[in-house]
Amino acid sequence: MRKVITYGTFDLLHYGHINLLRRAKELGDYLIVALSTDEFNLNEKRKKSYFSYDQRKLLLESIRYVDEIIPEENWEQKRTDIKKYGIDILVMGDDWTGAFDFVKEEGAEAIYLPRTPEISTTQIKQDLRDEIHG
Ligand code: CTP
Repeated sequence: MRKVITYGTFDLLHYGHINLLRRAKELGDYLIVALSTDEFNLNEKRKKSYFSYDQRKLLLESIRYVDEIIPEENWEQKRTDIKKYGIDILVMGDDWTGAFDFVKEEGAEAIYLPRTPEISTTQIKQDLRDEIHG
């Protein structure tokens, strides 16, 4: 069984996220999402999610492409996750191209998928702030 992992916040779940999760699952048989905790978002990524960890987890659990959700608590856990969960492929959007190539040393492959154009959580928040609903 080929196991795939991806990392992210997935706040205000949108179709860009779904596209990413669908393509990630297609690369293997079992998809694990390492979901950034609220503490990790705040302290390391310097962003406060609109939905809490439990709310974001609830949404992701109902997506058919997602088989398991684990917490993402620090930048270093990728190496240990690869071993612990027997990961074959780490998938990220291409805003992270090259950043996780070190997983090769752990026997996994890093694949960067093209982002879905024009949509992001930041953009949604900005548009709502600007009251652009089109
Ligand atoms: N992603 C994507 N296409 C988009 C938006 C996100 O493929 N239009 C991917 C990212 O590359 C990442 C995953 O979805 O692999 C989770 O991204 P996340 O940062 O949680 O979502 P964003 O919408 O990019 O959030 P933000 O604007 O806060 O960075």
